[in-house]
Amino acid sequence: MAAQNKQRFSVSYASSCVFVFLLLLSSFESMEGSAMEAQALLRWKRSLPPQTVLDSWVDALNSSSSVSAPCQWRGITCNEQSSVIDIKLDNTGLMGTLDHLNFSSFPNLLRLDLKINNISGVIPPSIGALSKLQFLDLSTNYLNSTLPLSLANLTNVFELDVSRNFITGSLDSRLFPDGSGNSRTGLKSLRNFLLQDTLLRGRVPEEIGNIKTLALIAFDRSQFSGPIPQSLGNLSNLNVIRLNENHFSGQIPKSIANLKNLTDLRLFTNNLSGEVPQNLGNSSSLSVLHLAENNFIGNLPPQVCKGGKLVNFSAAYNSFSGPVPSSLQNCSSLFRVLMQNNSLTGLLDQDFGVYPSLNYIDLSYNQLKGTLSPNWGECKKLTLLRITGNQVNGEIPEEILGLKNLAKLDLSYNNLSGSIPKRIGNLSKLLILGLRGNRLSGSIPIGIGSMGNLASLDLSMNVLSGSIPYELGECSRLQYLSLSRNQLNGSIPFSIGKLAALQILLDLSYNSLSEQLPYTLGNLKSLENLSLSHNNLSGSVPNSLATMVSLISIDLSFNNLEGPLPDGGIFSRAEAAAFSNNKGLCSNDIVGLPSCNDHENDDGGTTKKKLVAILVPTIVGSALVSLVLFGIVSYILRKRTERVSDSNTTFRDVWYFFDGKVTYSEIIEASKDFDDEYCIGEGGSGKVYKVETPDRAVYAVKKLHDSWDDDQMMMQNSKKFLNEARGLTEIKHGNIVRLLGFCCTKVHTFLVYEYINRGSLAHILSDAKEAMELNWSKRIRAVKGTARALSYLHHYCIPPIIHRNITSKNVLLDSRYEARVSDFGTARFMNTDASNWIAVAGTTGYIAPELAYTTVVPEKCDVYSFGVLALEVLAGTHPGDIIFALHSSSDNNIDLKDVLDSRLPFPQTQEIVDNLCLIMNVAISCVQKDPSSRPTMSNVTWLLEVQAAVG
Ligand SMILES: *[C@@H]1O[C@H](CO)[C@@H](O)[C@H](O)[C@H]1NC(C)=O
Ligand SMILES: *[C@@H]1O[C@H](CO)[C@@H](O)[C@H](O)[C@H]1NC(C)=O
Ligand SMILES: *[C@@H]1O[C@H](CO)[C@@H](O)[C@H](O)[C@H]1NC(C)=O
Ligand SMILES: *[C@@H]1O[C@H](CO)[C@@H](O)[C@H](O)[C@H]1NC(C)=O
Ligand SMILES: *[C@@H]1O[C@H](CO)[C@@H](O)[C@H](O)[C@H]1NC(C)=O
Repeated sequence: MAAQNKQRFSVSYASSCVFVFLLLLSSFESMEGSAMEAQALLRWKRSLPPQTVLDSWVDALNSSSSVSAPCQWRGITCNEQSSVIDIKLDNTGLMGTLDHLNFSSFPNLLRLDLKINNISGVIPPSIGALSKLQFLDLSTNYLNSTLPLSLANLTNVFELDVSRNFITGSLDSRLFPDGSGNSRTGLKSLRNFLLQDTLLRGRVPEEIGNIKTLALIAFDRSQFSGPIPQSLGNLSNLNVIRLNENHFSGQIPKSIANLKNLTDLRLFTNNLSGEVPQNLGNSSSLSVLHLAENNFIGNLPPQVCKGGKLVNFSAAYNSFSGPVPSSLQNCSSLFRVLMQNNSLTGLLDQDFGVYPSLNYIDLSYNQLKGTLSPNWGECKKLTLLRITGNQVNGEIPEEILGLKNLAKLDLSYNNLSGSIPKRIGNLSKLLILGLRGNRLSGSIPIGIGSMGNLASLDLSMNVLSGSIPYELGECSRLQYLSLSRNQLNGSIPFSIGKLAALQILLDLSYNSLSEQLPYTLGNLKSLENLSLSHNNLSGSVPNSLATMVSLISIDLSFNNLEGPLPDGGIFSRAEAAAFSNNKGLCSNDIVGLPSCNDHENDDGGTTKKKLVAILVPTIVGSALVSLVLFGIVSYILRKRTERVSDSNTTFRDVWYFFDGKVTYSEIIEASKDFDDEYCIGEGGSGKVYKVETPDRAVYAVKKLHDSWDDDQMMMQNSKKFLNEARGLTEIKHGNIVRLLGFCCTKVHTFLVYEYINRGSLAHILSDAKEAMELNWSKRIRAVKGTARALSYLHHYCIPPIIHRNITSKNVLLDSRYEARVSDFGTARFMNTDASNWIAVAGTTGYIAPELAYTTVVPEKCDVYSFGVLALEVLAGTHPGDIIFALHSSSDNNIDLKDVLDSRLPFPQTQEIVDNLCLIMNVAISCVQKDPSSRPTMSNVTWLLEVQAAVG
C-alpha cells in the first residue's frame, strides 16, 4: 500500500494537497482501526482459557504506550498505518476456539497463521470477511466443522492449509471460481491448496480446474472418492499433486501426463484402475512418482526418469506387467524404489544400472530373470535390497559384500546357486538376511559370526552341507533362526546356547544333524518355537529343556532320541506327535507316549512337584472370578498394509512441544546432537538421553533407532501419527510419565518425556543399596501405582491405550517413590505388520505366551506383564522360576516367604503382610496362561485398593 501511495504522490504535483489530506484522514482512520483491532483481539483473548502466550496482549488503557499497542503484542504485525496485517501464533500451544474472534474487525489482514495449536470447534463463516487475506494456515489443530462457503470470499488467498484437522463434509463447487475468467468469487488466486489428513469426503469438483494459478494440491490422507478431476490436466502451473491414501477410483486422466511443470505425483493407496498414461514423464522431470497400492494394469510408463531427476518411485501392489521402465536404467538420482508384488518381467542384470544414492529397493514377487549384477555393489547407500520371489539365477556376487550400510538383504525364493560368500560377515550392519528357497550349496561360512546385529537369519530350503559353525553363537541379537531343509550334518554346536535373544523361532528340522542335543539349549529362555524334527539326533532329551519358560511349541519327531522326557515345562503340555518316530521316548505326562514306568522301575517319574500350601484368602478368589465375568474387552488390531513411503520429500518436519517453551534446536544443542555422554538407557526401539535445556529444565528424550529407518518412515506416514502423538501428550496421570513433545524430521525421530529422577525399577532392584531403600511399603506403593496407571490407560483413555511393553525397565520411580509408567503408546507408532515383527514392542520374559502368533493383541497381555512385574517387585528379581512353577503345575499356591526378596527383612506388621499376600495372589491371577482367565486392570486396581482397605 505504501508503494501505491508513493506512486500516486509522484503522478502530479497538483493533486498532492488532496493526497496529504487523504493520508491524514487514513491515518486517523487507522488509529480508530487499530483500537478496533485491539479490542477485537482482547475480546478474543478473554474468550480463551488463560495462557501465557497471550501475556503481552493487555489493554492499551492499562499500559504506557497507547494506540500502537496491538502492533507490539506477540504474534501481531501492523502496516505503516498501524493496522494489523499479520496474526502469527503458530506452534504456541494456543488453546480455545475461534468463535469470538471478530474477523470483521481486521479489514487489512493479509496473513493468519495459527498452525500447530490446540484450537478446536468450528471455522467461523465470518472468516469470509477477511477480504484482503492472502495466506491462511489453520493446519494441525482440532477444528471439526465443515469448510464454510464464505471461504469463497477469500479471492486473494494464495495459500490455504487446513490439513490435520477433523474437518468434515465435502468440497463445495461454489468454493471455486466459475469458468468465465472474470468470476467475482471463489478461491481464484490459490497456488497452494492443502487438505491433508482431514475427514473431507465425496468428489473433488471439476470446477477446481478453474483455479488457473494452482501449483500444489495436497489432499492426501482424507476420504475423497470418485474420479480424479479431468480438469487438473488444464492447470499448467501444477507442480505437485498429492491424492494418495483416499478412495479415488477410475483412471488417471490422460491430460495429467501433459503437465509441463509436474514434478511430484502421488496417487498411492486408492482404488484407481486401468492403464497409466504411457507418456507420463515425457513432458516434465518427475522427481516423485507413487502409483503403489491401486489396481493398475498394463505396462509402466517407460519414460518416468526421462528428466533424470526421479528420486522416489513406487508401483508396488498393482498388476503391472511388461518390462521395468527403460529410463530407470540410467536413473542415477534414485533414492527409494518399490516395485514389489506386480508381474514385471525383464532381466535384472540389464534393466538396472548403478545408483549412487539408492537407499531402498524392493523388487520382490515379480518375474524378473537374470543374474545379480556386481553393479549392486556400487550402490553404496543401500540399506535394503529385496528381490524375493523372482527367477534370479547365478551366484551371489562378492561385490554385494561391499554394501556397508545394508540392513536388510532378502533374496529368498529365487534360483541362486553357488555358495554363500565367505566374507558375508562384512555386512556388519545387517539385521535381516533371507536366502530361503534357493539352490545354495557349500557350507555356512564361519564369518557369519561377525554379524553382531543380525536379528533374523533364514537359510532354509537350500542344499547347504557341512556342519553348523560354532561361530554362529556370536550372533547374539538373533531372534529368528531357520536352517531347516538343507543337508547339514554334524552335531548342534553348544554355542547355540549363547543365542539368548532367540525368540520367534529356532528351526533346524529336515537336516542330517546327529549326536546328542546340547544341554545349552536350555539357556534359550525367550525361545517360543523349537523344531529339530527329521534329523538323526540321538541320546536323551536334556532336562534343561524343561526350563525354557517361553516355549510354546516343540517338535523333536523323526530322530533317534530315547529315554524319559524331562518333567514340566513344555513337556507337560506338548502333543505326543511332537515326539513321535524316535527310538523310544517315554513320558508320564503326555498322553499317547509310553509311560516311563514301563521301562524303568525307579521312582523318578512320579511327582516331584512340591505343593506348598498357604491360605489363599477365599474372598480374593471369588471376587476375581465374579469380576472377570464383567465384560472382557478384545481389541482387534487392524491389519496394516505396507505403506508406501519416501523420506526425501513426502513428509513435512514436525516439531511439537506441549507449551511451546522448548524448541527443537534446544534439544539438539543440549544433547550435543545425541552424544552418548547423555545416554541414560537403551530399549528395543531406541536410546534414551537426559537432556538439560539452558533454562535448567530436564527431559528424558527417546530417540528412535537409526536402524529402524523403514519403521520410522512408516511412522511419519502413518495416517494417524500426528493425532495419536498429540493425543498422548494429553494424557496426564500421577502414575504416568508425561509425553511432552515429539519430533519427526528427516534426521531424527524422537519423543520428549518428563525426566524421572530415581530411574527404573529394574535399575533400583539390581542395585543392592537402592533395593534396600525400596522397603516393603514403598514396593507396595509402586505396584499399586503401576496398576492405577495401566487401569487408566486401558479404561479411561479413548481410544484405550495398550502399553505392550510393561517391564521393570519402563516403570520409573520419582522423588516421592511414586511409580511412573513410561513408554506407553509408542507401540502404536510402530508398524505391527508381521513382516516387521522385530519392531514390535515387547520384552522377552514379560511377553504373554499368546502374543507370538496372534494378530489380536488384547489388553490381557498388559495384564500378564503387570503380573510378572508385580512378582518381580516382591521377589527383587525376574520371577521366571515362579512363573514356570505356576505354569507347570495346576496348583496356584505359593508361599509368600518363598517369593519375597531375601535382601529385605521379613515384614514386621500384619498390614504389610496382608498387602503383600494380596499383591502376590492378584499377580498370580494375572500371569495365568489363558488370557480370558486373567482379570482386567480395573479389576486389579479395585482388588488392590478396596480389598486392602477392607481386609
Ligand atoms: C489493569 O491492570 C490491573 C493489574 O495489572 C488490573 O487489575 C486491572 O483490571 C486492569 N484494568 C483494565 C481496565 O484492564
Ligand atoms: C465485529 O466488528 C465489527 C467492526 O468493528 C462490528 O461492527 C461488529 O459489531 C462486531 N461484531 C461483534 C459480534 O462483536
Ligand atoms: C467439535 O468440537 C467442539 C469443541 O471441542 C465440541 O464441543 C463439539 O461437540 C465438536 N463437534 C462435533 C460435531 O464433533
Ligand atoms: C464477502 O465479502 C464482501 C465484500 O468484501 C462482504 O460484503 C461480505 O460480507 C463477505 N461475505 C462474508 C460471508 O463474509
Ligand atoms: C513452470 O515452472 C517454471 C520454472 O519453475 C516457471 O517459470 C513457470 O512459470 C511455471 N509454469 C509454467 C506454465 O510453465
